[in-house]
Amino acid sequence: PSSEQKEPSHFTMSSAEYFTYKGILFPQLEYSWETINQVENEFQILDDDIINVTYPKSGTVWMAEILALILKKGDPTWTHNSVVWDRSPWLETDDGLQVALKYPPPRLMNSHVPFQFFPKNFLQTKAKVIYVMRNPKDVLVSFYYFSSFIKSLKTPGSLQEFLEKFLSGNVVYGSWFDHVKSWMGLKGKPNFFYITYEELQQDLRGSVEKICQFLGKELSSQQMDSVVEHASFQKMKENKMSNFSVLPDEVVDHKKGRFMRKAVSRFQVQSD
Ligand code: A3P
Repeated sequence: PSSEQKEPSHFTMSSAEYFTYKGILFPQLEYSWETINQVENEFQILDDDIINVTYPKSGTVWMAEILALILKKGDPTWTHNSVVWDRSPWLETDDGLQVALKYPPPRLMNSHVPFQFFPKNFLQTKAKVIYVMRNPKDVLVSFYYFSSFIKSLKTPGSLQEFLEKFLSGNVVYGSWFDHVKSWMGLKGKPNFFYITYEELQQDLRGSVEKICQFLGKELSSQQMDSVVEHASFQKMKENKMSNFSVLPDEVVDHKKGRFMRKAVSRFQVQSD
């Protein structure tokens, strides 16, 4: 059956703020069918693009910070002065696409789309994709709290109810399992690199070294120290340009939570 058919009927009734693009839910706020379609079918990936791809709540902003710091050789001026969605736009959002289209190359971008919605021309380019994967149990908990915090998402009911939706892919961006599977199909391609959130947590410096190697960037030991320092949970929690604290009340409910929550890893998983 198509994913459209898999959706329970009550979804159409109670999810006024979501729409479906090829069977996958997206929030109506900040997203549109036309934008996602444009990203999939018309947007041109360039050879020098770097794209940070994740399923939501897997460490997107963390990797965006790491990449921005690497590109600036550890200098935190950019990460301290530009909000994360300007320095690395979320490609498939309405605003993100506009930022990406005007972004002077080389571009740094984020995306949460499953591979089948990613710009079609990617496979003909040398653009580099970094995929961050996080243990789905931690993604679930992070997603659950984030859904109360951010107003574009439906307020979840109980964790049990949210778990059932998560497992059946009835959450925005669809099934975690399908997402990971879609991107793991690129394993082995020279312009695709993947790493886990847990590995970043266990060995941030070693992870940064691997990312630099993939990007072909050489950093001195001091520059590397600076990347590691400014990408730490504590430093990022204090960075207004990355901790979502500058978002207005129409977008997030600051009383109901915060973006930099606990960063808990219930399981230790390695990439290999
Ligand atoms: P928790 O909600 O478990 O705390 P995303 O950017 O994909 O939305 O992911 C958000 C998750 O990444 C949140 O997890 C957040 O705390 C965590 N995170 C962000 N920056 C981090 C950092 N420097 N170190 C560890 N975790 C970080």
